[in-house]
Amino acid sequence: MNKQFETQSPEETLSLGEKIGRHLRAGDIVCLFGDLGAGKTTLTQGIARGLGVPKEEYVRSPTFTLVNQYEGKLPVFHIDLYRIASLHDLEDLALEETLGNRGVAIVEWAEKLFDAKQPENPLLGMDRWLEIHIQIEPDETRKFELRALHMGPVEHPVFTLH
Ligand SMILES: Nc1ncnc2c1ncn2[C@@H]1O[C@H](COP(=O)(O)OP(=O)(O)OP(=O)(O)O)[C@@H](O)[C@H]1O
Ligand SMILES: [Mg+2]
Repeated sequence: MNKQFETQSPEETLSLGEKIGRHLRAGDIVCLFGDLGAGKTTLTQGIARGLGVPKEEYVRSPTFTLVNQYEGKLPVFHIDLYRIASLHDLEDLALEETLGNRGVAIVEWAEKLFDAKQPENPLLGMDRWLEIHIQIEPDETRKFELRALHMGPVEHPVFTLH
């Protein structure tokens, strides 16, 4: 199952994120894929807004801590794996527990959570997750593809978006 969106500006990416955020549920893991500057952090800011994180709480990438937590309607864990060197560091994050079923996790550079040779296989004990693949077009348009390959038979509410 997948769904596509396009945005023409950072503001549009924020509002797309906001719409997505409104449809997320406790326990959701959102894996973001996309090159440098694709818009992962911008989308995350929108998602946080959609999850009710107050506007004053400025969402930016957790450069040194790897994970920032925000309180919205649910706890929001924003994880940026850009600097992560090894799976060891990932284990230190205790991702599985952190994510548990309490909150929503949004992961930048999510490719690091998957086996490089078998990108279908997560390295940690995740059994279902949403993927958002972001592409930069030559004119700065961003293309977003939402995928729920491992969500099971029940359609995730985010797929009702249009
Ligand atoms: N349609 C768009 N959506 C999002 N950002 C856009 C768009 N068009 C241009 N931009 C610009 O692209 C940049 C996106 O930055 P952002 O930090 O969100 O990307 P990122 O994927 O998190 O980058 P990084 O790989 O460094 O983590 C911003 O400077 C933004 O102004
Ligand atoms: Mg970023």
